Amino acid sequence: MQDFIYCAPTRVIFGKDTELQVGKILKEAGATRVLLQYGGGSIKKSGLYDRVVQAVREAGIELYEIGGVQPNPHLSLVREAIALAREKKVDYLLAVGGGSAIDSTKATAVGVPYEGDVWDFYCGKATPKTALPLGVILTIPAAGSEGSNSSVITNEDGWIKRGLGCDLTRAAFAIYNPELTYTLPAYQTAAGASDIMAHIMERYFTNEPDVDMTDRLCESVLKTILKQAPVCVQDPANYAARAEMMWASTVAHNDFLTCFRVGDWASHQLAHELSGLYDSTHGAALAVVFPAWMTYVYKHDVQRFCRFAVEVMGLEMDFFHPEETALKGIAALRSFFRSIGMPTTLKELGVPENELDLLASKVKRGPDGTKFVPLTEADCRAIYELMK
Ligand code: NZQ
Ligand code: ZN
Repeated sequence: MQDFIYCAPTRVIFGKDTELQVGKILKEAGATRVLLQYGGGSIKKSGLYDRVVQAVREAGIELYEIGGVQPNPHLSLVREAIALAREKKVDYLLAVGGGSAIDSTKATAVGVPYEGDVWDFYCGKATPKTALPLGVILTIPAAGSEGSNSSVITNEDGWIKRGLGCDLTRAAFAIYNPELTYTLPAYQTAAGASDIMAHIMERYFTNEPDVDMTDRLCESVLKTILKQAPVCVQDPANYAARAEMMWASTVAHNDFLTCFRVGDWASHQLAHELSGLYDSTHGAALAVVFPAWMTYVYKHDVQRFCRFAVEVMGLEMDFFHPEETALKGIAALRSFFRSIGMPTTLKELGVPENELDLLASKVKRGPDGTKFVPLTEADCRAIYELMK
C-alpha cells in the first residue's frame, strides 16, 4: 500500500446547458483575454461553437481562437497557439472538445511562459515551472484529460508521441453537458469507452498489495462502462448513459483510482507508437493492445486476472483451472471490444504487420521499477506479434 498525495483541483460543472455558463465562469476566474482551441469542426456543425463564442463575448472577454487540432494533436499547431497567445497577451486558455483539443491547450499553457521550445517538456529535457490557467468544455468521454494532469503531443519530426505529467496543467474548471456527446460517431463513442477502460485497467493490474478499496472502485467503474457503452452506441441520445460515460471518463483518469496503488501504463506506451506512426485512434489502438498485453503477462499474477474475469467480466471461477478462468476473462474483454465495433487486431486497426521491429524499437520503456511486468524490447515485439 503506497502513501499518496491526491490533488484533483478541477471544478466540475455538470448538466444540461452548462456550456452557457462559460462566460460567467471565465469572468469569475479573472480571465480578460482568452484563447479558444478546438478540433476539426464538430463543434461548428453542432452549434456549440456559436453558443460558446456568444457566452464568452457577452461576459465582456476578448476571445481569440485556433481551430483544426487533429486527433493525436501535433506539435506544430501547439507552437502556433503559443505564438498567438503571446502576441495577443492571452491570460486564460479554453479547450472545447476532447483529449486532443485539451492536450493541445495544456501544451500551450506550459509553452507560453517558457523561453525554450515546448517539446523540451515532452522529451524530458525540462520541467514546467509555471503555466497559464485553462478551462474545458468536454465533448467526448474518452481521454480523461479534462481531469488528468497529463497531455500527449505528437512531434511530426519522427512521428514521436510523448506525454507530459504535470499538475500545473490540470484544468481549473470542466464543463460537461451529456447532450453535447449525442453527435459522436459510434466509432468514437466506442473508442472513448475502450480508452476509459484502459485507464482503469492500467491501474488495476498492479503489484501493490492491500488495495482492496480501489480494486472495488475500479471494478465498479469498469462494470458501468460494460453496461453503458453499448447503450450509447445503440441509442446515442440516451442522456443517463451518456452522463455516466462522461463522469467515468474523468473518474478513470483524475487519479482518484490511483490512491494506494501504482499504475503500469505499458499498454498505453505500446498504443502510442501505433498512433504516432499510423495515426490510429487512441482508444481503438488500446482495444487491440490491451488483450494482447494481458495474454502476454497474465501468468505473472493469475489470481488478479481471475479476479478480473469474475468481478468485472462476470464469469464463473474454475478453482481447479485458474489459468483457464484468467484466459476466459481476457477473451471476454476482447469480445466486448468487438461487440461495440472496436478492432482487435492490427489488420482491423489498419496497421501494417511487417513493421513490428520498428514499433518495438520505439516504445518508451525507461528504467521503471513500478511496472506490473517490466518489458524488454523483445517483449514489446512479442506483444505486437500477439495483435496479428
Ligand atoms: O476534431 P473534431 O471535429 O472535434 O472531431 C473529433 C475527433 O475527430 C470527434 N468529436 C469529439 N467530440 C465530438 C466529436 N464528433 C462529434 N461530436 C462530438 N461531440 O472525435 C474525434 C476524436 O477527438 P479527440 O479529441 O481526438 O478524442 P479523445 O478524447 O479520444 O482524445 C484522444 C487524444 O487524447 C490523448 C490520446 O493519446 C489522443 O491523442 N490522451 C490524453 C490523455 C490525457 N491528456 O490525460 C490520456 C489518454 O490516455 C490519451 O493518451
Ligand atoms: Zn488513454
